Amino acid sequence: DDLRDLYQEVILDHGRKPRNFRRLEEADREGRGDNPMCGDRMQLWVKLAPDGRLADVAFQGKGCAISMASASLMTETVRGKTQEEARALAEKFRELAMTGTCPDCGGALEDEMERLQALGGVHEFPSRVKCATLAWHTLNAALDNADKEASSE
Ligand code: FES
Ligand code: FES
Repeated sequence: DDLRDLYQEVILDHGRKPRNFRRLEEADREGRGDNPMCGDRMQLWVKLAPDGRLADVAFQGKGCAISMASASLMTETVRGKTQEEARALAEKFRELAMTGTCPDCGGALEDEMERLQALGGVHEFPSRVKCATLAWHTLNAALDNADKEASSE
């Protein structure tokens, strides 16, 4: 249907031109993730605002179009959020990717999840769920690295 087409367009656009695909200098958090199914890896950096919110999120890595689109949409979605909000979104997205349904509203579209809904279709392809969630796992890993200096290598 039309909505489905729109979603496809969003994914294609973000997959081809991932936003925030760059190294973040002087990051406050750094994390790595990998998709064990294919071996693709991702590195992600977070710059925190003085109040602890995510001021900037950027990533680099190699992966399929779905993983790139998901990471691109994720960086735009979590910017300005608190770390708790970002983790909650990661959990919500994981559910969405696995089931195709938002756990909170059962699928109605609302603010940030609306754009991510575009990736809800991956639940029909279980092998691609890890592609779609790679960026979110990597974000969680970065936020968990609170004690570790962000590496500059
Ligand atoms: Fe379900 Fe936003 S609460 S999509
Ligand atoms: Fe490797 Fe999708 S095939 S991340």
